Amino acid sequence: MEDWISIGYLISAALFIFGLKKLGHPKTAPFGNQLGAMGMLVAVITTVAQMQLTGEGVVDWTLIAGGIVLGSLIGYWMAVKVEMTGMPELVALFNGFGGAASALVALSEIQKYIAEPSGIPTGLEITVTMVAAGLSALVGWMTLTGSLLAMYKLKGGVEVFGKWIRTPTWGPAWLNPVKVLLFLGVIALIIASIDDPTNEQYLWGIIGISCILGIILVLPIGGADMPVVVSLLNSLSGIAAAFTGFIIGNSVLIIAGSLVGASGLILTFIMCKAMNRKLIDVLFKSFGGDGEKQSLTRTKVGSDADEVAMMLDGAQKVIIVPGYGMAVSQCQHAVKEFANIMEEKFDTEIKYAIHPVAGRMPGHMNVLLAEANVPYEQLIEMDEINGEFPECDVALVIGANDTTNPAARSGEGPLAGMPIIDADKARTVVIIKRSLSVGYAGVDNDLFYMDKTMMLFGDGKAMMGDLNTAVKEI
Ligand code: TAP
Repeated sequence: MEDWISIGYLISAALFIFGLKKLGHPKTAPFGNQLGAMGMLVAVITTVAQMQLTGEGVVDWTLIAGGIVLGSLIGYWMAVKVEMTGMPELVALFNGFGGAASALVALSEIQKYIAEPSGIPTGLEITVTMVAAGLSALVGWMTLTGSLLAMYKLKGGVEVFGKWIRTPTWGPAWLNPVKVLLFLGVIALIIASIDDPTNEQYLWGIIGISCILGIILVLPIGGADMPVVVSLLNSLSGIAAAFTGFIIGNSVLIIAGSLVGASGLILTFIMCKAMNRKLIDVLFKSFGGDGEKQSLTRTKVGSDADEVAMMLDGAQKVIIVPGYGMAVSQCQHAVKEFANIMEEKFDTEIKYAIHPVAGRMPGHMNVLLAEANVPYEQLIEMDEINGEFPECDVALVIGANDTTNPAARSGEGPLAGMPIIDADKARTVVIIKRSLSVGYAGVDNDLFYMDKTMMLFGDGKAMMGDLNTAVKEI
């Protein structure tokens, strides 16, 4: 029988791994998601079967069925309701729940010892269990409070009794040694708990300090660094699950947790690289976004759709640079229509320049453009497309700002050193946005004021509609 259980776990682990592999490309990602969900279903069924077959038994079937039904309903409702722009908040919330779930399982295992001290193992086994439970609690509770705060920050605040309360980005330098001290405090409590596993004070101490640590780790982190933190918390929620897997001796939990931990960490480093930030700076130095926004002193006369259409007449090569504004105005279908018209009318070569942190979540632009059936081969990553701008007739920037801001090259300010899309190197630049206002990092953008830049002021969808009509009429 044990063999069947192992095979069940093996199938589920394989489904996780293949699912993760498929997530690597937008085309195969939905199937990857389904494989992952199937893997989870197999894991749940195998675990329940294992409990029944080993005589341990399921404590309460109603609880399990109720949990599945309620969880599925809430998950479905959230997934349907969430706007594409609200995805990072949802991911942050899910990370928090994942961390808390693992920590709660670890807690229940320790509660068993407290209820029945005679069942406490000795020697190495209790050391491993208490260390794993302590680390699971540290990482899990820290992930919960950190993720809730991250979600609150990403939302820009929360409305309480009709009053909009914003989260401050607060974190003086002296807070860093406090973080280290609290971390060491948790480690000391974990070590103490090995000799005295039934001492509840150690347990609550670890939980309390971990919750505080989650808050003070995320509190100083601002603006553009938030997605990095969300990804790191995602990784931590996986690590918490892996620790819990050790405690309850569940191999698939260890594998799944390690996969989440490792992939989250890889994504974290990819994002750090895209923003030219070091992870240590993200975690210990507050930066950008929530800070002072630059005030605008310059003006620029806007163009209209007819004028831009005339300039586009006969263009050989157009690179579309999408950004957060495209997501807000949901104009991806109009953008695709524009590409179709240009291709049909002038045989124009169309490409899309994808900045790794354009929008508000990793892959944001890819998902939106895929939804509009833009061919994947036209989506070109920043490093690859940048060399093509000097020979491109028009760079059409749609709601992108920071990711095209030449100020990033200056080495100063919140955007310092962030790699950007070289839209300013195109022969002509057309920018669609509602005003000259700053982007997420709060930095004025020189690109708007260049002589070769035409500004189309207005909502992305409305302006793309006008532009498509004007191009059709040429
Ligand atoms: P942003 O710099 O955020 O600028 C977006 C621009 O879109 C705004 O300046 C805004 O200008 C315009 N906009 C908003 N609504 C619009 C609408 N309805 N129609 C047309 N334009 C509209 O965009 P970006 O270039 O994509 O850069 C992303 C920024 O977010 C980076 O700083 C990045 O670090 C940060 N960030 C990224 C992520 C990830 S992982 N992708 C997560 C969090 C933060 P107007 O108000 O004038 O219209």
